[in-house]
Amino acid sequence: MALYRVKIFSLFERFWHWSQMLLIVVLLITGFGLHGFHGIFSFEQAVTLHTSAALALLVLWIFSVFWLFTTRTWRHFIPTVSGMWGVLRYYSFGIFKGERHPYRKAYWRKHNPLQALAYLMLKIVLFPAIWISGLAYLFYFAWRDLPRATEWLTGIAMVHTAAAFLILAFVFIHVYMLTTGHSFRDHLMPMISGFDEVDLSPEEEAYLRKDQPGDIR
Ligand code: HEM
Repeated sequence: MALYRVKIFSLFERFWHWSQMLLIVVLLITGFGLHGFHGIFSFEQAVTLHTSAALALLVLWIFSVFWLFTTRTWRHFIPTVSGMWGVLRYYSFGIFKGERHPYRKAYWRKHNPLQALAYLMLKIVLFPAIWISGLAYLFYFAWRDLPRATEWLTGIAMVHTAAAFLILAFVFIHVYMLTTGHSFRDHLMPMISGFDEVDLSPEEEAYLRKDQPGDIR
């Protein structure tokens, strides 16, 4: 294995990541406005912005799920037990002693086991929780005559708000993690340029040089 600069985030992934970030910021700000935490927007403005950003994010999410499955990149998000202890140990002790991060990015494994677990939970627990509760809220007019509809709505609102707080916590931890180990810039650049240092096997290097020469430097 040897280190090369390899394209690990395609243009679509970078577009998806940054537009998702922008839409989530709009959703958090307008959502907290609707909740009464601030008065930057009128209630009507906040509802319109929140609903439009949510629908745009839903479309983006459908495209990204399609993309993950058609390109088989979903495999990056399957966490493994192997290597998890080393990463947990690093974040608990090693990081404070200036040790080197135990994980090296591989071509078919760009996330360390902890990252893969965190991103997977975001994608299969938090995002579905916020979508399902949000859509149930949006279409309340269609089911409001059902028995105990108002009680259900209260529960749905709680799930929606709890998921929003957990996504906000993810964003804080996510950005904080980018400041650990290497510099913030070093962590950030791959999501801008697409390229990062990756350990390649001789077969992977030969494959990239022949079939995707633009993806290896
Ligand atoms: C200021 C805000 C943000 C910054 C600076 C940022 C930065 C980054 C960077 C640099 C990476 C690549 C990490 C790596 O080397 O593997 C990354 C990956 C990722 N980020 Fe963010 N991010 C932000 C907000 C968000 C938000 C709001 C979400 C969703 C709630 C998010 C979800 C993800 C996911 C799922 C990945 C993995 C992408 C993949 O491998 O395909 N990020 N982010």
